Amino acid sequence: MTARQVVAIDGPAASGKSTVAKVVAERLGVPFVSSGLLYRAATLVARSVGDGQPSAQELVEALKGRDVQLQARQDGNVIQLDGRDITEQLTQHGIDEQVSRVASMPDVRAWVDARLRDIEGPFVIDGRDMGTAVFPDAVAKVFLTADPEVRARRRVGERDQAFDEVVKAIIARDAKDAKQSAPASDALKVDTSRLSIDDVVTRVMAHVQDKFHAKQAAS
Ligand code: CDP
Repeated sequence: MTARQVVAIDGPAASGKSTVAKVVAERLGVPFVSSGLLYRAATLVARSVGDGQPSAQELVEALKGRDVQLQARQDGNVIQLDGRDITEQLTQHGIDEQVSRVASMPDVRAWVDARLRDIEGPFVIDGRDMGTAVFPDAVAKVFLTADPEVRARRRVGERDQAFDEVVKAIIARDAKDAKQSAPASDALKVDTSRLSIDDVVTRVMAHVQDKFHAKQAAS
């Protein structure tokens, strides 16, 4: 696969990236891939290693002994751990709280990146560093942002937490994820705070079409 067959949609927690990535993937008729689910799966595995706080080396060793499969489906992704569907467990706030620590480990990032680069394109992928570290030559790159309160309002129905707790958790995770969350210099940046999903999708699709045409013209 050439990375040019990838559309990368990055951004902080609840910025709308997975919702937008899913619709854009559907419009393009390609699968949608959630890179965050692999970090979440690594976090779940970490809990079962030693005292639940393994070093990066211990965790990567443990991951090598487990069968972690990411199934990229257009309507949502499924993660299987040793043949068991663990997807629902991965979006609980306990995992939200621990995932940034695990994701900050370079060895874990390398484990995730290798898996993502093995997925056959074309696809739309969402994450934090898809357009920078993992697929720097993606055909189109997007970085979505939104105010923390707006993001918390979007997320509150998906978590078993009160609004104020969700705002605090989002701000805390932004800080912990800052290192791996910078937009690519050639990404379309969209503040989604005051936009509907349809508005964001329209802008992203226009950007993707522009990039496809520019690539065709150049080849
Ligand atoms: O939707 P939300 O952003 O809450 O979650 P996610 O995309 O599943 O990402 C969960 C966590 O994984 C993030 O808070 C990051 O710590 C980490 N992550 C990352 O470091 N790099 C990525 N490309 C994707 C996720």
